[in-house]
Amino acid sequence: MGGDGIGPEVVTEGLKVIAAAGVEMDTVEYDLGGERYMKDGTILPDEIVEEWRGLDALYAGAVGSPGVPPGVIERGLLLKMRFDLDLYINLRPFVTTDHDFVVIRENTEGTYAGEGGFLRKNTAEEVATQGSVNTRHGVERACRYAFELAMTRNKHVTLIHKTNVLTFSGDLWDRTFNEVAAEYPAVDTWYNHIDAACIYMVENPAQYDVIVTDNLFGDIITDLAGAVSGGIGLAPTANLHPGKMSMFEPVHGSAPDIVGTGMANPIAAILSGAMMLDHLGETDAADRIRTACADTDTLTGTTSEIGDAVVARLA
Ligand code: IPM
Ligand code: MN
Repeated sequence: MGGDGIGPEVVTEGLKVIAAAGVEMDTVEYDLGGERYMKDGTILPDEIVEEWRGLDALYAGAVGSPGVPPGVIERGLLLKMRFDLDLYINLRPFVTTDHDFVVIRENTEGTYAGEGGFLRKNTAEEVATQGSVNTRHGVERACRYAFELAMTRNKHVTLIHKTNVLTFSGDLWDRTFNEVAAEYPAVDTWYNHIDAACIYMVENPAQYDVIVTDNLFGDIITDLAGAVSGGIGLAPTANLHPGKMSMFEPVHGSAPDIVGTGMANPIAAILSGAMMLDHLGETDAADRIRTACADTDTLTGTTSEIGDAVVARLA
């Protein structure tokens, strides 16, 4: 699903690199996103979601077009996909020569759940509420995923929240995190408030190994993490339901302002492709792609030149 703006441009490079790494895939193409919505009103029909359940993975570029009102594509396509397919882990690794950490963002709950509404809309007494939904089940599986991952890494998990103010959801997160932590005595833990985490991440991102956090804090901190890791043009994402159909996309958006200029950096999409190969069990090809992308400073040029340079390094 190339999507809108630079989405198709970067997905083309990702598919090129996957093929060059020697992985053959059967593919189906989906024309969805803001442009499609403006053409015929289609966002994400339930039949397509059902079809996706039978696939192994969805490789996506980016969706969103300037002419579409906010929320239509975000809620109707991206969040619908995450919720309907229960893609409960949003996995975002950030690797540079100076640091290597990964954010586990809970991907189906929190303020994203859509709880709330208006009272007396469009009057002077208007009220809008937007609640945060946090279930023991949702929080626990995110924490457990983080600890399992930490066991394969540097055995350090940081919970990021705002427990001093969000005393209901924060309390559930804190208790659940500590209960899961007790099952992993080999793993060291740390807690940061989200505001303080923004400072620590700018000052010394290398102090993190695995971070686990709620949906909205995870959205924000991963943009910051991208900014301290060479820019979001380099940041990949996996939206996972381990063992089931999962979705892979760059952290960046459709960047309509640079579409067609060749300025889009395809590395985030290429690395998202590598995460997809991990999910498909093609870990050797995934590692080779990551190695080929490692020296990002020397991967310059247009979108397709960067794709070609990664391909050349795979040889
Ligand atoms: C992201 C994006 C999405 C999010 C938007 C487009 C719905 O910002 O994947 O980080 O907030 O999750
Ligand atoms: Mn985001």
